[in-house]
Amino acid sequence: MATERTSLFIFFGGTGDLAYRKLYPSMFNLYKRGTLREHFAVIGTSRNKMTDEEFQDAVRKSLGTAKSDKDAEKFISHFAYEAHDVTDKAHYKVLKDRADELDKKFKLEGNRIFYLSLSPNFFGTVAGFLKTEGLTDSQGFNRLVIEKPFGRDYDSAAQLNDALSTAFNEDQVFRIDHYLGKEMIQNIEALRFGNTIVESLWNNRYIDNIQVTLSEKLGVEERASYYDNSGALRDMVQNHIMQIVSLLAMEQPVAFTDVDIRAEKVKALRSLRVYNVADASTNFVRGQYGAGNKQRAYRDEDNVPHDSNNETFVAGKLLFDNYRWSGTPFYIRTGKELADKFTRVDVVFKKPLVDIFAFPQNANAPLEANVLTMFIEPKAGFSLRLNAKTSGQGFQTAPINMDYFVDAAGEKATPEPYERLIHDVMKGDGTNFSSWPEVSYAWKFVDQIRKVWDLQQPAFPNYTPGSMGPAAADELIQRDHREWVYRLNQ
Ligand code: NDP
Ligand code: BG6
Repeated sequence: MATERTSLFIFFGGTGDLAYRKLYPSMFNLYKRGTLREHFAVIGTSRNKMTDEEFQDAVRKSLGTAKSDKDAEKFISHFAYEAHDVTDKAHYKVLKDRADELDKKFKLEGNRIFYLSLSPNFFGTVAGFLKTEGLTDSQGFNRLVIEKPFGRDYDSAAQLNDALSTAFNEDQVFRIDHYLGKEMIQNIEALRFGNTIVESLWNNRYIDNIQVTLSEKLGVEERASYYDNSGALRDMVQNHIMQIVSLLAMEQPVAFTDVDIRAEKVKALRSLRVYNVADASTNFVRGQYGAGNKQRAYRDEDNVPHDSNNETFVAGKLLFDNYRWSGTPFYIRTGKELADKFTRVDVVFKKPLVDIFAFPQNANAPLEANVLTMFIEPKAGFSLRLNAKTSGQGFQTAPINMDYFVDAAGEKATPEPYERLIHDVMKGDGTNFSSWPEVSYAWKFVDQIRKVWDLQQPAFPNYTPGSMGPAAADELIQRDHREWVYRLNQ
């Protein structure tokens, strides 16, 4: 059984899609594993009026359990509901009384987690009232969890951060990036810093380039009104991709602690080259899907304007100006309506300086580069491509793969990202959350690309659903005499 953690959770936006679909099921998993037992309670809030029982019915539905499931019923009995408009200052007093009551009832030691699962427009308001109305005065810990997006550019993110910091210190704020809760993203650190043969080669002397691909098969579905104001650059690059890249690029932390890891990620992001106008135009491409393969065009999706210039695809080249990475580009790409749903990192090593097997009378194909692929999702594992002799007479080489994939037992033991992240919040471990300096450097980089794109009219649509994006994404890497490791029809 896991160590029991004690806390009151107040979910603002507690009747929303995220809460029902991800947060409550993840908490139930924590309950089943024993992290949550007797000493926890949940208050769900939204403007909607509901009794505790009605809320518990909705939670039960979200868990997909029946009233006959005794375990689930015990878990659900810790849930309470308060109708609460976050802009109504007076009502925080009612919320505080309810929190104090549950604190006593379940012996919660004054520990409080305020989870803001609602529009970011409200984050500053809620944080401020939590403090001024005394909800953070309890004796235990007080932690604030916020969901992306953290602003829409550096200025708005900084404003948001200023508002939060009037009420909470940086070490009390947990900014969720659910990619950091993924098993194989966390494995980047294990692979790099747990293996001499990996980390000793992890630099520009041996690595030619690194490719990060976050490919989605689905389109915008029912989130078009949000997505059309965001686009792939803000939705995926500023957060998930920049986090992955910083884990790949950072130096070894002094110790495996949140403070040390964050310090190294920030250092890496500081050495990321922020592009001027010309470089941003050359090094980044964008795309928007048209119609094809039985899929309608992005501009014909519900709630998308017919003349939308929003990007549903981004590819780019990132350069770090530091001793470890100078001259080794990181190529990134992400998009909707692509060939398949997967996330992977391909680390392409330099080819041997001399190919001794290619002597004139030998018809051996040239040696291929070694590639270390980290499969993040849906399958989880690593693959290392090496060159080896083929069996038989003569001397021919061919690439072979050394593979490791997480087995069924490993998959079963793997918590959902939200389960892991909520657990980390209870432990007060900020390792897998985005710190403000990381967020700010990521925005400063992304803002330059956005600025350039906002000045130019894109030739959209420019890719077909089911492809790997526009031709320009291939041209971007081919210009450097390289190829994407993952290509269609290989
Ligand atoms: P929803 O629109 O489904 O839910 C919003 C919630 O906020 C509802 O419970 C709503 O209830 C409540 N709410 C709205 N206005 C107020 C108010 N004035 N006072 C109190 N409560 C209010 O949003 P999601 O659950 O989808 O998203 C929540 C957050 O999570 C957002 O920041 C989103 O960007 C982020 N997110 C969501 C993801 C997802 O998969 N859904 C993925 C990643 C991030 P009511 O209207 O009854 O008050
Ligand atoms: C979210 C984006 O952060 O990540 C979505 O807002 C995207 O647009 C999603 O679909 C992808 O997450 P995952 O875990 O399915 O790869």
